Amino acid sequence: MSKRRNILITGGAGFIGSHVVRLFVTKYPEYHIINLDNLTYAGNLANLKDIEDCENYTFIKADIADLETMRRVVRDYKIDGIIHLAAESHVDRSIKDPFTFARTNVMGTLSLLQAAREYWESLPERYEGKLFYHISTDEVYGALELTAPEGIESPFTTSASSEHHQAYGEDFFVETTKYNPHSPYSASKASSDHFVRAYHDTYGMPTVVTNCSNNYGPYQFPEKLIPLFINNIRKRKPLPVYGKGENVRDWLYVEDHARAIDMIFHTGKVAETYNIGGFNEWKNIDIIRVIIKTVDRLLGNPEGYSDELITFVTDRAGHDLRYAIDSRKLQRELGWEPSLQFEEGIEKTVRWYLDNQEWMDNITSGNYEKYYEEMYGNR
Ligand code: NAD
Ligand code: TYD
Repeated sequence: MSKRRNILITGGAGFIGSHVVRLFVTKYPEYHIINLDNLTYAGNLANLKDIEDCENYTFIKADIADLETMRRVVRDYKIDGIIHLAAESHVDRSIKDPFTFARTNVMGTLSLLQAAREYWESLPERYEGKLFYHISTDEVYGALELTAPEGIESPFTTSASSEHHQAYGEDFFVETTKYNPHSPYSASKASSDHFVRAYHDTYGMPTVVTNCSNNYGPYQFPEKLIPLFINNIRKRKPLPVYGKGENVRDWLYVEDHARAIDMIFHTGKVAETYNIGGFNEWKNIDIIRVIIKTVDRLLGNPEGYSDELITFVTDRAGHDLRYAIDSRKLQRELGWEPSLQFEEGIEKTVRWYLDNQEWMDNITSGNYEKYYEEMYGNR
């Protein structure tokens, strides 16, 4: 594919987006990276402090659901590639406020698609050299059964396979798995995925969709399991484990996701779907024990010191039991694999949060405190 020069990355001030923006700005000085983000509670320009002065980087504060503004941005910056990450992303929030999820994830994606379509169709070369890359989640596939509660040897291997090499069932999400979303979050993401594919099938827009498993790493907003628990251990606050902690997630280090996005953006096949996963399933309670152990060790606490913070609380409504991604298509066709073993990734992550307490304290003060109280009461 020809070199694309003006790349719009949406949601670049969020967790995954900030890693993608950093990678593209530093790796491709010949590209102009335009980061468009509305700076909701989850967007934080402090995530990009190290690259904000780069010459090939521009930040625009805007709402993806504002069609007029999307039209203007796409046209004014002569956008030829879009990597779309902006979204409402937290399942618990979607349960409380599904409308915001429909507005941002569905109408926002549709506005961006429409703006790109109008601009690209107005050009003499039309869609040649253009790409709309939509970032989605494994949660659109629904939930898998937990048929091996104690875990069995995982059938997947990578050069970075962890010692904990377990699967908790025989079924895995593949690219052709039927969509079956359960939460308002995953329903809104599923809907946006369908719109992206519809723009390919109906108008011929070059699109790619990827569905990734749970990410972890630096700059994740501390409402998600891993940063929330690291922060709560540090502050000696309770660790709210939903249900019995039996749910299973597949975890991928965020920089490995950003690397996959780079690879797919440049060499992925138009109209394809790629699953991206960590080959790394964990039961929540097991991962929580790893987090506690790592934080205690790095803080110099005796082993087992923070175990008492574990607090079993009422389960999340409609809590999906197990997500497990088969990402062998991406491994086979494009040669991508996770680069980090989970043990290395979690150590790096815990260290980062402990070394960047100011980043954490800045976002967990003020409004967030209020939200957290409303959400979790005085757990
Ligand atoms: P995040 O919540 O950390 O960041 C989302 C970003 O989008 C924020 O910067 C926010 O300000 C911005 N945003 C929200 N609404 C907007 C709007 N209306 N207009 C413009 N910007 C807006 O999310 P994340 O975890 O980085 O996820 C990024 C993408 O990856 C999402 O599409 C999510 O569905 C997908 N995804 C996430 C995970 C994960 O584990 N976090 C896994 C798979 C896929
Ligand atoms: P989360 O990080 O919210 O990601 P997702 O719901 O998209 O998988 O949650 C990861 C898992 O951890 C999920 O099974 C819910 C569980 N969880 C808790 O047990 N306690 C918590 O406080 C949070 C935020 C999540």
